[in-house]
Amino acid sequence: MPTATQFFGRPLDRISTRYEARFFGSLKTGNATFKRTEAGRMAAIDSLLVQRLTEAGSRIDELLDLGISSGTTTIELVNALRRSGQVPHVTATDRLIHAKLVKLPWGCRALVEPGGHVLQYDVLGAPIRPWRRRLDYVTGMAAIGNAAKRLLGPQVPDAAAGTPVALVTPHLARMKNVSLIEDDVTRLNPALIGRFDLIRAANLLNRHYFSAEDMTKAVANVRTYLRGPGAWLLVVRTLNAADHHGTLFRLTADDELEIVERYGAGSEVEALFTGKERPA
Ligand SMILES: C[S@@+](CC[C@H](N)C(=O)[O-])C[C@H]1O[C@@H](n2cnc3c(N)ncnc32)[C@H](O)[C@@H]1O
Repeated sequence: MPTATQFFGRPLDRISTRYEARFFGSLKTGNATFKRTEAGRMAAIDSLLVQRLTEAGSRIDELLDLGISSGTTTIELVNALRRSGQVPHVTATDRLIHAKLVKLPWGCRALVEPGGHVLQYDVLGAPIRPWRRRLDYVTGMAAIGNAAKRLLGPQVPDAAAGTPVALVTPHLARMKNVSLIEDDVTRLNPALIGRFDLIRAANLLNRHYFSAEDMTKAVANVRTYLRGPGAWLLVVRTLNAADHHGTLFRLTADDELEIVERYGAGSEVEALFTGKERPA
């Protein structure tokens, strides 16, 4: 796992998808979700989606990808759309995009969220995760991590003083036609209302991430971001490497979300979108 300083200091042509996945996969955010993603993870779903859009003769001018993590799978979706002749403007969101690299005592550093939550310590060039896995207690990493936390603090109060970094792949940050915005899906964002021909929420609207109340808000918000009749919504969750469970919806003229296609067992929140499950 690279440190944040190593990652952000590396030339673009030396940042491979594997290197990116190792870096982002280690970051556990303040709301206990991971910035975890894998290159190629959504390839099968991307191609089924593009096939549907092509069959329907749908033009996608505005795409919204929610909870993008590093944005690796966003680039892949954009490329799949481009291969089919679609060149949409892309709005890519995540609850956490802007972080700071902060200098700490004894030559150490920390990668922190704006609120001070530590994503990674850098102890003299060695990356230390502030969170633990069971294996850490066997390898001794738990003792090292706990010592770093004790010495350097679990929070960094003066995070504002650090160097800003964007927690997305530099390949996405440099793409044209892409707007990156920090957005919490549980809070209505007026700037997104009624704008999108296609919305994707991949590995975001998982019941274990959100309380029932927040999930209800997220579902209601996402719905309002669709442009109008004919707009598409893909909600999908990936278990293991490529075990996808999702639902592709389309907005009808009666403002209903109609199920166009199911992948695997369908989305776990499908009934919330169709209105068959009463909101919390
Ligand atoms: C597992 S990643 C999914 C990445 C990508 N969509 C994929 O499927 O590969 C989940 C992402 O959701 C983001 N996230 C968590 N809570 C969120 C919220 N309330 N609003 C927006 N994004 C959120 C996390 O920061 C993380 O980057």
